[in-house]
Amino acid sequence: MSLKDQLIKDKLPKHIAIIMDGNGRWAKKQGTLRIFGHKSGVNGVRESSEACAEMGIEYLTLYAFSTENWNRPKLEVTALMELLIATINSEVDTLLKNNIRLNAIGQLNDLPKKAYRKLMEAIDKTKENNGLTLTLALSYSSKVEILNAVKSIANDCVKNKLNPEEITEKTLENYLFTADMPDPDLLIRTSGEQRISNFLLWQLAYSELYFTDVLWPDFNREELYKAIYNYQTRERRFGLTSDQLES
Ligand code: FPP
Repeated sequence: MSLKDQLIKDKLPKHIAIIMDGNGRWAKKQGTLRIFGHKSGVNGVRESSEACAEMGIEYLTLYAFSTENWNRPKLEVTALMELLIATINSEVDTLLKNNIRLNAIGQLNDLPKKAYRKLMEAIDKTKENNGLTLTLALSYSSKVEILNAVKSIANDCVKNKLNPEEITEKTLENYLFTADMPDPDLLIRTSGEQRISNFLLWQLAYSELYFTDVLWPDFNREELYKAIYNYQTRERRFGLTSDQLES
């Protein structure tokens, strides 16, 4: 039986988040430039989003570009932005065909104008789709996201729109980019690094973490099934005991 067939259909994660890492090392191994690693990384994006859509997973969030990534060599940053535009151009029809809704989180105004415009167009074109929500984290920093939420909450308190005594976890969540999404059940990071790297710090509080040595350009459906299979072997206790969960 294939690995996919062994997955328990009613125990699939609702939301998978992925830190796509290892494009540069993959390129180095091939003796080629880093940007070819990123270009090959588009395969992983395609494979994982199509596989999630097929399985009926509701949310896939991909860490595509962090605020820290702006400090990479200018040539690499420009090439990554060009790649974003080219990928949106080439993939938007596939998103429509697969009923995938594109979404984006991060400091999107920092993107070059053309990339921003293309992204917004694709988000608009796919907005009626009700299958998988594919979220790209672009110019994203979780600390900045939380900081901005705190600033907005403080402003609303000053304006008497919010009572400080009534602020709950849910209040803060409503001010995050991810307000309309459930928290990730599963976080995958490729390339053997075991860090969160300023990604969804609040939202990952109870996520299961899965690290694989596979470099992102080699990540495919089978690797995704492996991650989900591993996730399904875990007992998610959310701070309770096993006995409590059983009863
Ligand atoms: C991390 O690998 C990857 C990135 C910073 C960029 C992610 C981009 C893609 C997967 C390509 C296209 C995606 C979209 C959405 C168009 P790294 O460069 O840090 O690798 P390294 O750690 O081996 O150097």
